[in-house]
Amino acid sequence: MSAQHWRATRGEALHGTLVIPGDKSVSHRAVMFAALADGTSRIDGFLEGEDTRATAAIFARMGVRIETPSPSQRIVHGVGIDGLQAPDGPLDCGNAGTGMRLLAGLLAAQTFDSVLVGDASLSKRPMRRVTVPLAKMGARIETGEGGVPPLHIHGGQRLSGIDHTLEVASAQVKSALLLAGLYAEGETVVREPHPTRDYTERMLSAFGVEIDFAPGFARLRGGQRLRATDVAVPADFSSAAFFMVAASIVPGSVLRLSQVGLNPRRTGLLQALRMMGADIREENAATHGGEPVADLIVRHAPLRGIEVPEALVPDMIDEFPALFIAAACAEGPTVVRGAAELRVKESDRLASMAAGLRALGLRVDETPDGATIFPGPLHGGSVESHDDHRIAMAFAVAAQRADGEVLIRDVANVATSFPGFDALARGAGFGIASA
Ligand code: S3P
Repeated sequence: MSAQHWRATRGEALHGTLVIPGDKSVSHRAVMFAALADGTSRIDGFLEGEDTRATAAIFARMGVRIETPSPSQRIVHGVGIDGLQAPDGPLDCGNAGTGMRLLAGLLAAQTFDSVLVGDASLSKRPMRRVTVPLAKMGARIETGEGGVPPLHIHGGQRLSGIDHTLEVASAQVKSALLLAGLYAEGETVVREPHPTRDYTERMLSAFGVEIDFAPGFARLRGGQRLRATDVAVPADFSSAAFFMVAASIVPGSVLRLSQVGLNPRRTGLLQALRMMGADIREENAATHGGEPVADLIVRHAPLRGIEVPEALVPDMIDEFPALFIAAACAEGPTVVRGAAELRVKESDRLASMAAGLRALGLRVDETPDGATIFPGPLHGGSVESHDDHRIAMAFAVAAQRADGEVLIRDVANVATSFPGFDALARGAGFGIASA
């Protein structure tokens, strides 16, 4: 694939109503659980991103028939909890940590062997956080050297339930254990240091699984079956986040982001931005597929720097690239702590954001688990995305306040989570073009 770049420049005040694509976390789980269910499930609002399409393709390779009647719809003909077939070669999760970690739990419990591989970024990400607790359940998984992909998963193991307390707050690890727990003897209990997104718990329950859960706690019994159900995927808060920040920092802007998913375990950025003085209102609140949604009306407002409360970090773990741009345009420094997990995302996001903001003329002091962002005028410059979709989109937002052109290098990865971001942004008033 040839490298793709963006030239982003200050555009106009942002206006309009934007429809944001479907939630990535929910789309991954919807296709997985529908594949394992008895009966046919329909998914509406499925994210047509590379990550979620990779997950759907993996299930197709294991014998699941998936139809696409129209874009962002899937009809999944479930094969039942024991109906997956051995794939004929390695399964490619692309860029998706969620895909790989959840599949590790699921495939560890199958009768057949499998191999999970990923792209260059995923191939650097830590997998022992799932393989170690899964091994305690009886799974046999080999990682590459240093605990990274590929994962060689040996099927045919008898799994037993465990009572496990996570070391890092991770919905992916929790979900991997719960999926393995569906096949394990006895009960599987997962406890978390900080509550993380609970889509697996909510959705398993919608698929008819008996599961007890509360913030920071989940418990299920092995040997249960899933019953097909339809899933309505809400708009992805993490994708909406870039427009929340953009409208907040560009003078004269008013944007309506329609029916965005507002699961409380995802909306930390909304709280942080409001602490900074952002003007974001909620209208037309509703429930969509069991999830709270609302239109967000975002108006430009002067922002002030804050100390981001550490308790908010898990609820805004994917939103720090956007937060850094808000901080860059605020009055006074913003301090981030307790966010070491950012170093093991699609890129080292503390390093990627610090380097990019420095390239545009700002001072950023990094610490092992955070950073202090000192705001100032943003200049033009060349920024590396480090092959990370959210870094690319964050700097497209930053460019709307820069006094020169920002070249954002290697943006093809944006298609993993937000295909069409540049066109949608241009329509709203961004200065952004392919380079
Ligand atoms: C996700 C969980 C989070 C998040 C990721 C999606 C999920 O990862 O960063 O984008 O869908 O469960 P961790 O579980 O590693 O924190």
